[in-house]
Formats: sequence, structure tokens, C-alpha cells
Amino acid sequence: MPYESLRAYLEVLEQRGLLHWIDKEVDKDSEIAAIGRMMFLALPEEQRFGLGFRNIKGYPGGRVVSGVIAASTQMIATALKCDPVPTEIYERLMHGINHPIEAVMVDSGPCKEVILGPKEVNLLSFPIPVWTPTKDAGPYLTPMWVTKDPDTGVRDIGIRRCQIKGRNKTGVLFGAPDRYGAIHHAKWKLRGKAMPAALFIGADPVQYLVAPSRFGIDELAVAGGIRGKAVELVKCETVDLEVPATAEIVVEGEILTDALESEGPFGEFTGYVAGERLGPVFCAKCVTHRKDPIVLGLISQFPPSESSMIKRNLLEASMLKHLRQNLSIPGIVDLHAIEASGCTAMLWVSLKKMYTGHVDQLVFGVLGYMGMSYFKWIVVTDENVDIRDPFMRDWALSWHVRPDKDMRFISDTAATELDPSSLPPDAVPGDLRGTKVIIDATKKWKYPDISLPPREYLERVVAKWTDYGLPPLGKVKLPKAI
Ligand SMILES: Cc1cc2nc3c(=O)[nH]c(=O)nc-3n(C[C@H](O)[C@H](O)[C@H](O)COP(=O)(O)O)c2cc1C
Repeated sequence: MPYESLRAYLEVLEQRGLLHWIDKEVDKDSEIAAIGRMMFLALPEEQRFGLGFRNIKGYPGGRVVSGVIAASTQMIATALKCDPVPTEIYERLMHGINHPIEAVMVDSGPCKEVILGPKEVNLLSFPIPVWTPTKDAGPYLTPMWVTKDPDTGVRDIGIRRCQIKGRNKTGVLFGAPDRYGAIHHAKWKLRGKAMPAALFIGADPVQYLVAPSRFGIDELAVAGGIRGKAVELVKCETVDLEVPATAEIVVEGEILTDALESEGPFGEFTGYVAGERLGPVFCAKCVTHRKDPIVLGLISQFPPSESSMIKRNLLEASMLKHLRQNLSIPGIVDLHAIEASGCTAMLWVSLKKMYTGHVDQLVFGVLGYMGMSYFKWIVVTDENVDIRDPFMRDWALSWHVRPDKDMRFISDTAATELDPSSLPPDAVPGDLRGTKVIIDATKKWKYPDISLPPREYLERVVAKWTDYGLPPLGKVKLPKAI
């Protein structure tokens, strides 16, 4: 049975030792983020867990959970209900994409337990943390935003940062103009109207996992396909949009199209604080929530984080599916979005190169799918290079590339505004332009033999290692290339 709500999922995490509730009083603006960050900085991935806070200074009865969606591959697999191995995660996602189940409407749901109209809306009443204390502009949510294309009525769900600016006002960041949410906003602006929008937090965990990817179909239908059951939606009270019935908190309103306001700074997935800028304004008209709602915050900021973990596991799988199935590009062995780049700036692909133009076809397939603001560096190498091993990546880059011939640039194209190298701090974001670097790190001709003994020689001595009177070797990983 799929999880029907965040609460059902949290129970399972707790049973499996993947969620710890903290009963000691914490300050939401100085401690919650620091505890989550130490979990990522100090623990290897296999030991990470989610955090629950239920004694928050100044918010009696309030609860915050963070690191509960994607602290580790094991947690992601728990959310997807599969084994924690990349092939299983890939299969689960593939199943959802290939067998989508459209979301269904229901009359009501737990998210309507409390309904607050314009006069009662007070976002400041929720314990919303500060994620990079002393550096962020204030408390932020990382909710899922729902908008619709005014021309087609097609819905988009995207995770976007949300600065709490007051009782009924927030900021929102469209990281690049090629995001669907940004395109919707531009279309509403052309019509001279504000964009109806709703944000929700804390529904089924699968929704958080699929929202940051692009599938060419409704993310909620993919979520339904993964869960094996349709996501249940309820109508919003004041806007023509639908939200998951079991969400913890829903905020309805509109994003203005005739005004920009200062937004940020905010500690970003790049590992740097993205400075204050002019951004769109969301005016909240209605809040609906469960009784005793739980605030869910995704840990983003310096990688590794939940942001990079979601992208590493889900974005890689959705790109691989697009390239292999939709574009039928042969020979793709592996694809790896580099976590230190927030899984957004650098991509490596290993390919069994078969024909002239094969590398270009692959690269343009990636950019066409993700939009030109993604991936500043795309490196394609041979099928026998383990692109998940940083040492082997450096080796391939060192000896498979003649820089003047094998590095190509697509200049003067889109970039992400959050990249601190894109623009000096005082420049106008409207001028944002960037460059793609495509590195063909495949061998261009037959290479000499690798200067290692044959694999069987190495394996033979490994088998006899202690017979030589030597201390044990530990785990041996021979390069794929030999
Ligand atoms: C934790 C987290 C935070 C994110 N924050 C933002 C954001 O503030 N702005 C943004 O444009 N994308 C953000 N993203 C990425 C979007 O969710 C992703 O690009 C998604 O595809 C939205 O694009 P769409 O509008 O094309 O659907 C975030 C992703 C994650 C995992």
C-alpha cells in the first residue's frame, strides 16, 4: 500500500531508525538548520537520518521535520518503496513514467481541517526555520508550488524557495526563465493578470521526489504511477487549482505580475549564499491545514544535501529514461550528475561511442530535455570509465582530451541566476547569459594498452594476498578500464 500522507511515511521512517524526534527545546532560527547540517557534514550517507523537532521555542505544539525525504539513498528507497540500489530506483521511476496514473479529485481531505480566510491568514504562526542562520533574509519554506499554463490549462508542480515576508506575503524564486513555473508567470503577465498559485507542504513523499524532474507529463501522474495509486486532490478554496488532499499546509493566492520586490539573500544549493535580488511577490489569500500541522523543510544549501540527493537519484533516472527511450540514443552506459555541483552544473556520461556525432546527439538530448540553464559542464567519456569514481574521472580528463579540439563552447546562452560566477553582484539579472562547455573525453582512436598487469594477474595475487604474509587488503576495486 502506498503512503497516504506524510504522517504515515514518518511512522515507517521512525520504525526503521531513519527518523529521530528531538524533545529538547530548540530555536527554529539558529538550531534546526545547524543540526541538519551537522548530520550531512559528519555522517556517511548510510548513517544519515531525518530529524523531527517537537519542542520549538515560541511555538507550543508546533512540529518541524527536515531531512526526511532524501537524507540517504536508503531513505529515498523507503519513500519509493523499493530496495536502496540505483537500478531499483531507476526501475521504480521508469514504472511511474511508463504507467502514469492521473491524479483524481476528491470532495475533501485532511488539508481542509482548518480553513483560514484572508483576514486570518498568518504565515508567521508556523515554525518556519531559517536555513543559513545570520545569512538568510529570514525564514524560508521549500514548498511545492502549483500553477497552470493559462493557454493550455496544463499544471506544473515545482519546488521553489519561498521567503516568508509577512503575515500574508512571500517571495518566490524562478531559478531561470526556462522553468515551467516561470513560463506560466510570463504568460499571465502578457495577459496583464496576476498568476493564481498555491503552495503546499508535507504530502506523500513521492511528490517531493518527482517535482524537481521533468517528464513531459504531469508530475502527479508520475507520482501516482510510482505509488500504484492515484494522488487524491482537492480543489483550492479561492483559486482554480488543485492540491493533494493530505497536505499538511496549503497556501492559496496569486503571484503578482506587475511588481517585483527584494528577495533573499538565501543560502543556496551551489554552496554559496545567493544575494538579495528583485523577485516576484506571492500574496496569500487563504490557508488551509491539518490540525497540528507539521512543517516540512528540505535541507538544501551546501552540498551534499537533500536537494543534491533528490537530483542525483531521480533526475539522473529521468534523464536516462529520456535519452534511452524517447530519443533512442544507443550505447549510454551511465549518467552521473556531480553532487559537488548540486547535481546541476556538471554532468558526466559514459558512452559506447558508435558513430560520428554520437557525443553531440547525446549532449543536445540532455540540454533539450533539461533546458539550457542546466549543466554548465557536460563531459562524455568511454563506456569503460567508471564515472562515479572521482579518480577515474580525473584520469579520463587528463588523457582522453586534447583541449583545443575536444572542448566546445555554446556561449551566450542561458544560465542559472544562482551561479555566483554568472553575474557580478551589481549586474542586472535580466542580462544573465552563460556558456556550456562540452568535453568529448572519449578516445578518438585506438589507445595503447593500459599500464597495469592483466586483470587475471591482479585477481590471482589478491586471492593469495595473505599467503604472502601481508596484512589484509580490504575491499579491492579494480578499474573497469582493464
Ligand atoms: C530543495 C530544492 C529546492 C529548489 N528550489 C528551487 C527554487 O527556488 N527555484 C527554482 O526555480 N527551482 C528550484 N528547484 C528546482 C526545481 O524544483 C526544478 O527545477 C523543477 O523542475 C521546477 O521546474 P519547472 O517549473 O520547470 O517544473 C529546487 C529543487 C529542490 C530539490
